[in-house]
Amino acid sequence: MKTIIEPFRIKMVEPIKLTTREERERLIREAHYNPFLLRAEDVIIDLLTDSGTSAMSSDAWGALMRGDESYAGARSWYRFRDTVRDIFGFEQVIPTHQGRAAEHILFGVMVKPGSIVPNNTHFDTTRGNIEFVGGEAVDLPCAEADDLDSDYPFKGNMDTAALEQLIAEHGPQKIPVIMLTITNNSGGGQPVSMANIREVSRIAKVAGIPFYIDACRFAENSNFIKHREDGYSDTAPIDIARETFSYADGCTMSAKKDSFGNIGGFLCTNDAELAHRERNILIMTEGFPTYGGLAGRDLEAIAVGLRETLDENYLDYRLLSTRYVVEHLREAGIPVMAPAGGHAVYLDARRFLPHIEPLQYPGQALAVELYLEAGIRCVEIGTVMFGLDPHTDEERPARLDLLRLAIPRRVYTQSHMDYVLEAIGRVWDRRDGIGGMRITTAPQFLRHFTAHFEWLDS
Ligand code: F0G
Repeated sequence: MKTIIEPFRIKMVEPIKLTTREERERLIREAHYNPFLLRAEDVIIDLLTDSGTSAMSSDAWGALMRGDESYAGARSWYRFRDTVRDIFGFEQVIPTHQGRAAEHILFGVMVKPGSIVPNNTHFDTTRGNIEFVGGEAVDLPCAEADDLDSDYPFKGNMDTAALEQLIAEHGPQKIPVIMLTITNNSGGGQPVSMANIREVSRIAKVAGIPFYIDACRFAENSNFIKHREDGYSDTAPIDIARETFSYADGCTMSAKKDSFGNIGGFLCTNDAELAHRERNILIMTEGFPTYGGLAGRDLEAIAVGLRETLDENYLDYRLLSTRYVVEHLREAGIPVMAPAGGHAVYLDARRFLPHIEPLQYPGQALAVELYLEAGIRCVEIGTVMFGLDPHTDEERPARLDLLRLAIPRRVYTQSHMDYVLEAIGRVWDRRDGIGGMRITTAPQFLRHFTAHFEWLDS
């Protein structure tokens, strides 16, 4: 592969504290073998999430100084609104402090007890916000998503036949909104094709159901379309983004992903009456409609970031740097989800540690081993996260046991990634000696954040 350099220079640095294996043994023990409970300063390479962890540019830092902190009608608000309108094309823009606040407002006005909301795959907070108001969140991933090894280019697609069947079965009255998450985070950061977006939009229109896009990683998705879908190789990512949103009635966005914000989000629609009701909730929970949950300076930084994220050189570098890690792992025979997604690398922990039963948490064991080996922090997406049914208290293996290594934007260099690859390689070489884990205490809901673990052989 040709070397693709980071298309930026480093102007300000944040030192990383280096720890020894001995220190990490103590630190992870004190954190009850749950990487969420570590102090961030005790982590060498933090791949827990790509959300809110990006490096802002000198332009964005400069824009912070321009922030107009007027309560109402600030200059920064108009700059933010006009940028969102220009890229996303929606008339009504509602600023929120992050993505889940936009979801909470949207589902609060749209979803009722008994409603059904389909999505290619709901992110946890999307699902949580639908269930919170009594709705049912249904995942309809395409069949190709099941095969971790295939190189199918758009594994994030929705199964549109299943969507039509769901509508036929329940009737459009029960389905207040159809969502599509681009890229499909819970489905491995895999992209959704324009053909699939168009088809979901067509089905929604025929049924008279509003169609919304969860837009968190819209720029990465646009660049995947550019490189993988026929007819887009000469189209600029911003125009692919504009076409994407032209098929939708609205979107929710976490500006903590593809716009480099450390905080921020928004909700969009073309429906003025709906926006009026949403702003009434916004005023109670987030703030006045011209700042939502954000300071003027945040609005400025996001407006800059939204343009930078669509820069082709940045996007090519971004997708190639994730692919770089995935391809090296595949070459070494290490089980990893293929093809490379946008924001993260997903190790297949069940195949990495086949001697550990799913109910002995191979993903968690691998997360702890990567921390012990090299101070790398990542998150289990498997039986710890999804295995417990909070209503019956029954525990079952999740569909997959994955370990997500999410890559913050513009934060780590290729040598950091080489360090990660070497560490995974060393853990791979000694995989037969790694044992399973048990949970010692855990809450009933969202247990992965705070559960305590120990080694089975301890
Ligand atoms: N939708 C998707 C697809 C997400 O990935 C996230 C957040 C949200 C919505 C919620 O946005 O955090 O701004 O409230 N994902 C992060 C992650 C937390 O680590 O994948 P938020």
